[in-house]
Amino acid sequence: MRILVTGGAGFIGSHLVRRLIVRSGHDVVNLDALKYSGNPANVEDLEGNASYRFVHGDIADQLLVERLLREHRIEAVINAAAETHVDRSIVDPGSFARTDVVGTGILIEEARRAGVARFLQVSTDEVYGSVETGTSTEEDRLAPRSPYSASKAGGDLLALSYWTTYRFPVMVTRGSNTYGSHQYPEKFIPLFVTNAIDDQPLPLYGDGRQRRDWLAVGDHCAAIEHVLLRGEPGHIYNVGGGNERENIAVAEQLLACLNKPKGLIRFVQDRPGHDRRYAVDCRKLERLGWKPTVRFDEGLKATIEWYRKNEAWWRPIKSGAFRQYYEEQYRKRLQEAG
Ligand code: DAU
Repeated sequence: MRILVTGGAGFIGSHLVRRLIVRSGHDVVNLDALKYSGNPANVEDLEGNASYRFVHGDIADQLLVERLLREHRIEAVINAAAETHVDRSIVDPGSFARTDVVGTGILIEEARRAGVARFLQVSTDEVYGSVETGTSTEEDRLAPRSPYSASKAGGDLLALSYWTTYRFPVMVTRGSNTYGSHQYPEKFIPLFVTNAIDDQPLPLYGDGRQRRDWLAVGDHCAAIEHVLLRGEPGHIYNVGGGNERENIAVAEQLLACLNKPKGLIRFVQDRPGHDRRYAVDCRKLERLGWKPTVRFDEGLKATIEWYRKNEAWWRPIKSGAFRQYYEEQYRKRLQEAG
């Protein structure tokens, strides 16, 4: 297949592009705006591959999207381009609405007009909101609570409306917290691992008892490809790792792996509107033939090993523009925590 992947220089996107080309033999055009977390280094090994083409640009650039779809005779689109970090959405909600809602709208409309055969929208389990008990099924009511999850819910519902209204073959995946190599160090696991390597404090929000279901990036990408090829148009598929953990347990586990003291943990002021727990029921996707394969203990170990061996990847990030973000986000919190 000739597939347009958007956001393919990001964390999940770059793993996905590599999988589609190297494991599955597809041709991929990677459209990425290279904003702060899009990193050409994530896909540099693919440069020169005859099945790969990189295009620097925005999903909201209608003329560019129209031209790419036509020129490359694209058969399928996977929209993995997004603003993704909840904390940033609290500070700058507008950019989330622009990319995750308006950008998705422009991309899908051009894909429909070009007669693309399949469109997969990469969404998130956060659209269900905080789930105190039990698990969310694909039929559950959406109740997003942050500008990030509300914007993703907007893009998710907009995509689904294209099936209802136009019979345009859209599938939506709602994935849980994803971890692995090449994840921008603003997120919980890479932030805590790289801080711990440097003996810096780990800023744990609130009481640290929030729960997340951790999904290895390779399993997430396998799910996305599976749904693209085998999913039913108009359907939603939850994707979870089956590894529900409290944040504090993850922090302690990664410190133990790195042989660092628990005393590095600092309980800091909570994230406003912090969702307590996410948990998805993945039986629908399992019936379609996918299941997660990576146990969290092994996945976390491999991820830590990658960050230990690839300081050349994350040190320039942490000493660049990220530094200012970190100061703004954490300085006061860490001072107050003592
Ligand atoms: O559930 C899927 C979602 O998972 C994705 O859609 C989002 O793009 C992704 O960012 C992630 O959202 P979370 O807010 O759950 O991920 P984050 O890595 O920011 O935080 C994970 C948990 O760790 C959450 O309960 C907040 C907590 N946390 C996070 C950071 C960055 C801390 O305690 N301290 C921190 O410094």
